[in-house]
Amino acid sequence: MNILVTGGNGQVGFELIRSLSVFGHVLAPTRDELDLTDKNAVAEYLATHQPQLIANAAAYTAVDKAESEPQAADRLNHLLPKQLAQYCLDNRAALIHFSSDYVYPGSGEKPYTEDSKTEPLSEYGRSKWAGDRAVIGSSCNHVILRTSWVYSARGNNFMKTMLRLASEREQLSIVNDQIGAPTPARLLAEVSAQVVKPLMSHEIQGVFHVAPQGETSWYGFAEAIFSKAVKLGAEIKVKQVEGISTSDYPTPARRPLNSRLTVDKIEQALGLRMPGWEDALEHILMEYLNGL
Ligand SMILES: NC(=O)c1ccc[n+]([C@@H]2O[C@H](COP(=O)([O-])OP(=O)(O)OC[C@H]3O[C@@H](n4cnc5c(N)ncnc54)[C@H](OP(=O)(O)O)[C@@H]3O)[C@@H](O)[C@H]2O)c1
Repeated sequence: MNILVTGGNGQVGFELIRSLSVFGHVLAPTRDELDLTDKNAVAEYLATHQPQLIANAAAYTAVDKAESEPQAADRLNHLLPKQLAQYCLDNRAALIHFSSDYVYPGSGEKPYTEDSKTEPLSEYGRSKWAGDRAVIGSSCNHVILRTSWVYSARGNNFMKTMLRLASEREQLSIVNDQIGAPTPARLLAEVSAQVVKPLMSHEIQGVFHVAPQGETSWYGFAEAIFSKAVKLGAEIKVKQVEGISTSDYPTPARRPLNSRLTVDKIEQALGLRMPGWEDALEHILMEYLNGL
């Protein structure tokens, strides 16, 4: 079976290439080989390769830039999944799509469930929600894995930015009033692999949250990164980390203060238990620092 992984150069896509390769022949065209904003090129690629499974990890993820480029965000985050869903429906193929905590309003302190009301605060969030609606509305055979705060040993992410800043500066100010769970890209790829069989045999369908157990703030995440990195032998210059509020750190796109996601639905569906976010961090840090 041909499996198409989009965004194979990104955090999640890179991990998916490995985790899905046991199920068939993984095709992961680079941006140069297939521009996903080109509808005709995507249609031609699908017609040529006839994938039976698509894992759509490509996205427009520049959250702040999306405020001034809403159409570019919409093309990747809405119109692309819409086109892939239509292909899956027409060709009896299956789609694994990735969604974001940014579809929720970020208010309150309770974790969001998959049925919670969506109300995105930003253009990025609106484009992701439009993509989710298109996939769900297509009635193709799909699973949407909705996650938060993705990081990995490669790509652009908070963990790597913190390690770089901590090696350059003695003082850092980090937001401490946004709460969520940092999610390794690898966890999403492992869950995706577990989803394949029940998805292809039509045993599961719909939206599932995927994130580690527990919660923290960006400040708490940074503190954990620094203390674990020091234990693993990294050189850290930073001496003082100050917690600041979101209002002290204005950004073009509004961030949700509450990114907590319940994960019991995916745990029950697949019969697994999500790891704690700190254990998950240790593994990814080891991989990054030791080049494993
Ligand atoms: N990152 C987060 O914190 C986070 C949180 C919640 C949900 N998510 C969701 O998780 C999924 C994966 O995110 P990620 O962090 O792995 O994203 P990422 O690292 O930013 O990767 C996105 C990928 O999309 C590709 N791409 C973008 N525009 C393209 C185009 N026109 N043609 C071809 N490829 C294109 C990029 O290619 P290049 O490498 O060539 O740029 C890159 O490989 C996305 O659906 C995202 O919305 C992410």
